[in-house]
Amino acid sequence: MLQTKNEFLNDVFLTLSDYIQQSAKTNSVVKISTPEKLKEIISPLSKSGCDQETLLNDLKIILEHSINTTHPLFLNQLFGGFNEAAWAGEIVSALLNPTMATFEIAPVLTIIEKRVVNELLNLMGFDRGEGIMVTGGSNSNLLAMLCARTEYSPSIRLTGFGHNRFRIYVSSESHYSFDKAANITGIGTQNLVQVPANEKGEMIPEELERIISADLKEGFVPIMVGATFGTTVMGAFDPIFKIAKICDKFNVWLHVDAAWGGGALFSSQKDLLKGIQLADSVAFDAHKTMGTPLVTSFFLTKHAGILRNTNRGGGTEYLFHEYDNSDWDTGTYSLQCGRRADVLKFWLLWRAYGTDGLIKRTDHLFDLAAFATQEIKLNPRFKIIHSNYLNLCFQVLPRNSREGASQFTLRVRKELLKSGKAMVNYAEKSDGTIFFRLVFPNHNTERSHISELLKIILETADRIDIV
Ligand SMILES: Cc1ncc(COP(=O)(O)O)c(C=O)c1O
Repeated sequence: MLQTKNEFLNDVFLTLSDYIQQSAKTNSVVKISTPEKLKEIISPLSKSGCDQETLLNDLKIILEHSINTTHPLFLNQLFGGFNEAAWAGEIVSALLNPTMATFEIAPVLTIIEKRVVNELLNLMGFDRGEGIMVTGGSNSNLLAMLCARTEYSPSIRLTGFGHNRFRIYVSSESHYSFDKAANITGIGTQNLVQVPANEKGEMIPEELERIISADLKEGFVPIMVGATFGTTVMGAFDPIFKIAKICDKFNVWLHVDAAWGGGALFSSQKDLLKGIQLADSVAFDAHKTMGTPLVTSFFLTKHAGILRNTNRGGGTEYLFHEYDNSDWDTGTYSLQCGRRADVLKFWLLWRAYGTDGLIKRTDHLFDLAAFATQEIKLNPRFKIIHSNYLNLCFQVLPRNSREGASQFTLRVRKELLKSGKAMVNYAEKSDGTIFFRLVFPNHNTERSHISELLKIILETADRIDIV
């Protein structure tokens, strides 16, 4: 039973502080464990509870056996690293624990969220519009589909639709969340059309136009094109100007999934996002490139009013009261009822660094990508498959082993993971080519860490490179 609560909290904070100090310095990013071993290590739930010393020990075990995503060599996912200001925002949000449903329960945080949304709309070049924080880029893509549906026919919210003729178009390199969204919205995954991409991973606009024209002849109803700025594997940016023209021609909603690529907004490479103001809606994940903890996701649209038209319904009897400030309530914009105050971590980071500081930070990520690309190019043991934005796809070539570069790279990655020294993901092209997908979302990473990573990869490759 917990008795002296303050003492416990102090111990927890000391443990966390110690973890934060040590985690960047340790050699270990991953501690590989089997599910069986973890089942043994993690304490079972009990009827009688436990004392605070045991509880603290539980926390230490969890920290010890979890993946160290704050480590500079955690480059596996499209997030990572650690920032004090953002983390402070996260824990204060958890402590305040409001729901963002109404101004009444979250007055300060509602103002902060609206302010951040407005700043982002401005930066994107939307001269009007609205936005809301969501549970992730996936949810943002889902919301885009719902808004496109509302734009096509506002009454569908009430009546549903009794046909399977809607069509949505994304590139073959788009994120799989579009597939989930097509399922959830009832549009159907077979009505999510994958438009071919070129060798750089960009949607081919001529193909888009051809497919939409053919669909119209078949009686389908195109309602949305989902372009991507920063594809998950290749970091490609779809050609927005040509795509926007096609959307205009066929009167189709243009959504841009900039969950990953949106970070360029806060960088000297802002031109990558040229044309984003042509979109009807945008998904942006600050947790992917800005260094905030998961989840810090925005859905932004230039169509003021569409979020309410899409999401409203219910709750007036107990939650959405008529009161002086009810115009500020954001619950009616959202798919959620209870909604975390995710904005505070981003706001605190932005306050701490200012826009200029955020630009400097993101420029550092671009510098890492350029440095890594250069180093890999110079070394004949590596083969670059593709490099764009903050994505670098490459293989390690075998010297002795008879297996191909794909299988060898896969084996090196497996060994790397076993060593626990670094975590870098791999991906596979449709032709079966397997490669490391090295990404640069981690603000704790420096050039020296990249050199160290490449050294570790080469040492690992040498160790397993036998005939
Ligand atoms: C391009 C793209 N869009 C959307 C998502 C989904 O984002 P989230 O994980 O925040 O749901 C991802 C995730 O990696 C992504 O790469």
